[in-house]
Amino acid sequence: MASNKSLLILPGDGIGPEAMTEVRRVVDWMEHNRAVKFDLDEDLVGGASIDKHGIPITDEVVEKAQNVDAVLLGAVGGPKWDNLDFSVKPERGLLRLRKDLELYANLRPAICFDALVDASSLKPELVSGLDIMIVRELTGGVYFGEPRGIEDLGNGVRRGVNTQVYTTPEIHRVARVAFELAKKRDGRLVSCVKANVMESGVLWREEVTIIGETEFPEVELSHMYADNAAMQLVRAPKQFDVIVTDNLFGDILSDCAAMLTGSLGMLPSASLGDVDEHGRRKAMYEPVHGSAPDIAGQNLANPIATILSYAMALRYSFDMPEEADLIETAVQNVLAGGMRTADIMAEGMAKVATTTMGDAILRELDKIGN
Ligand code: IPM
Ligand code: MG
Repeated sequence: MASNKSLLILPGDGIGPEAMTEVRRVVDWMEHNRAVKFDLDEDLVGGASIDKHGIPITDEVVEKAQNVDAVLLGAVGGPKWDNLDFSVKPERGLLRLRKDLELYANLRPAICFDALVDASSLKPELVSGLDIMIVRELTGGVYFGEPRGIEDLGNGVRRGVNTQVYTTPEIHRVARVAFELAKKRDGRLVSCVKANVMESGVLWREEVTIIGETEFPEVELSHMYADNAAMQLVRAPKQFDVIVTDNLFGDILSDCAAMLTGSLGMLPSASLGDVDEHGRRKAMYEPVHGSAPDIAGQNLANPIATILSYAMALRYSFDMPEEADLIETAVQNVLAGGMRTADIMAEGMAKVATTTMGDAILRELDKIGN
């Protein structure tokens, strides 16, 4: 049994740990039934790290993350840490991981599972069969631009500053990831920024166009203002195949796209960096949903997004596409069988706990994977 697949698990806060417990059962299943061995390590991030170390992530954990094949993260944040100084809030732990590992390409698929068509707030015909991939730039833009801060101008006046900034290499590398994905999918890419208002948006549009024309002529590229894209996502979402967008617009558009599918509790994401000299691509996988403190610790959370994040890790970091497919099929079958966690509950379905959903997915894996 080869043991060269290293995975760092960071359950984090809120529903993160409960969801991750179900994932570990799926990892165990893979080990027992697929003769793969993962070197698992687990550590703290977010509020859990603040409680123990006073900071949202330690250097030691960042270093661990730098040296594994993939990081699997649960969720960070909660009311307990809301009043902390901005620089030590739980979210800073997540942002530091993204930045230090240079995970510049954030892949957020929005797929509507057949069984959940009715859980969407849009009409079934608008979302059935929906399959969009949003590629969000993750290490630049207004999230990290300098100067930033809050300054006192005197006389009781304060000024808050953030800077939207992109360089050509930052635009090129994320555009390439998006074009590559479009090439493997339906061959259509829409780039969404505010090129009508922002210089950084003008540059973005020009540079994405150049990459398209010179390297990916087979992909059909179009441009859309980000506000229009938000509108189009709820008007006619199936017009999109792959969307590439900056950090802030990507944050917003991906939440919007996620909800089309019925629940944030369903959606995984992958954050990828460059391939290093050993052929290894730094990567972190996490659900799109947050820590949901209101339902944490009650066995109510939907573990599916985190389980599907592990499936994405199998696909993108461990070259195990069949196993990734297997997990995705198991999830679909369980949903088709009528089980629902509270967030996706619908009339006539069976409302189940986090652990029961985990049990059902494992049973399904036993059934279809052996
Ligand atoms: C996300 C989240 C994060 C972000 C927060 C938790 C910092 O909303 O991953 O979309 O804004 O990027
Ligand atoms: Mg967000």
